[in-house]
Amino acid sequence: MIKVGTDIIEVERVRESIERYGEKFLLKVFSLGEIQYCRGHAIPEQHFAGKFAAKESVQKALLSINPTLNVWPNQIEIFNDESGSPHVRLLGSLGEICRSYIIEISVSHVKEFATATAIVMI
Ligand SMILES: CC(C)(COP(=O)(O)OP(=O)(O)OC[C@H]1O[C@@H](n2cnc3c(N)ncnc32)[C@H](O)[C@@H]1OP(=O)(O)O)[C@@H](O)C(=O)NCCC(=O)NCCS
Repeated sequence: MIKVGTDIIEVERVRESIERYGEKFLLKVFSLGEIQYCRGHAIPEQHFAGKFAAKESVQKALLSINPTLNVWPNQIEIFNDESGSPHVRLLGSLGEICRSYIIEISVSHVKEFATATAIVMI
């Protein structure tokens, strides 16, 4: 079975959440590695928004396979390899349940929006 998920988000909404809720918001949604990666770029909110969209797109694809799954953003980690290409790591109980799944992700962002598409193969 192959399922797809996609998401688009306004960069400004993510920037506002970071400004308003700070570390509390960041640590609820992102891993330490994701936070470090995004903060290492000139416009962090674009990268945070990209990772947020990526998590949502993975969530959509997973829920279209199993609608009863409990999926939280901090169980989905998006990391970049040395070429910059993004990859998905599922953490905790979600990682256990979905350990045989193959997940591919693509991310893009501009000043206003970030978008991502995920494909899950089981
Ligand atoms: C990869 C590339 C197409 C990205 O396009 P872009 O228009 O600059 O940026 P976009 O907003 O569309 O996409 C950015 C996202 O692409 C993804 N990306 C980066 N490099 C990638 C790659 N090699 N393959 C697939 N996806 C990649 C990342 O997820 C990135 O967002 P993130 O850093 O927040 O995770 C562009 O950088 C490119 O052509 N690179 C050529 C390879 C290169 O220069 N590599 C340098 C490092 S060795």
